[in-house]
Amino acid sequence: MSLKNKVAIITGGNSGIGQAIVLELARQQANVVIDYICHPEATEALEREVAQLGDQSIGVKADVSKPGDLQMLVDQAVNRFGRIDIMVNNAGVETRTSVLDTTEEQYERVMAINLKSAFFGTQIAAQQMIKQGDGGRIINISSVHEDWPMPGNTPYCLSKGGMRMLTRTAGVELAAHNILVVGVGPGAVATPINVSTMQDAAKLALLNKAIPLQRLARPDEIARVVGFLAGDGASYLTATTIFADGGIMHNSVGL
Ligand code: BGC
Repeated sequence: MSLKNKVAIITGGNSGIGQAIVLELARQQANVVIDYICHPEATEALEREVAQLGDQSIGVKADVSKPGDLQMLVDQAVNRFGRIDIMVNNAGVETRTSVLDTTEEQYERVMAINLKSAFFGTQIAAQQMIKQGDGGRIINISSVHEDWPMPGNTPYCLSKGGMRMLTRTAGVELAAHNILVVGVGPGAVATPINVSTMQDAAKLALLNKAIPLQRLARPDEIARVVGFLAGDGASYLTATTIFADGGIMHNSVGL
């Protein structure tokens, strides 16, 4: 499979699942735009890895919760590479707070970084793709929790539920332009978002037990799904979510 001459933007691209997506798309020969908000040194290290794979990349510092920054991100991609083909709305945070204890500030932060960014990322990328006239791919990194409650992580679940409907509605609206919009719903992945669980042996054992495959995913196992969705093999997939969750959503205690 090859994404040669394709240009991809990955939001939240310098850590966790985003970083793995950058490397996977670069392995498939795409040129990549790495959005980040902190740790410029991680972005620079990633740019060097992409160069070693023989591809080009630029790191762009942009706050994806601001539509103006998203526009700047797309503009920089177009200035540097001439076009965009793949927009990966990946940036995300969680607060691990419940319906009873979430503050307004926590609520607004999660909704802005996870959902508002994906909405305007989709809008602004699609406007550029429509100008180019030959379609495109928008891939929203959601979660099993777009459809499956996680008690004690309420704002996150709300934001992912919103991404589910964004994927479906934008997928239908943009289909006439051959812009395919697909969600990826990871389960538990070994990334910075899960460090508190990974550092607590008892919690980790409980989580592993709940997963039929009995382990967290590696970020590259999610990135490879994104690599597939960006390529020719996924030409008839839109307005839906692919779950890569080791079976966790369908598990039951069996009692
Ligand atoms: C969340 C994690 C959680 C996992 C499985 C992810 O989307 O970010 O906190 O462990 O889903 O429930």
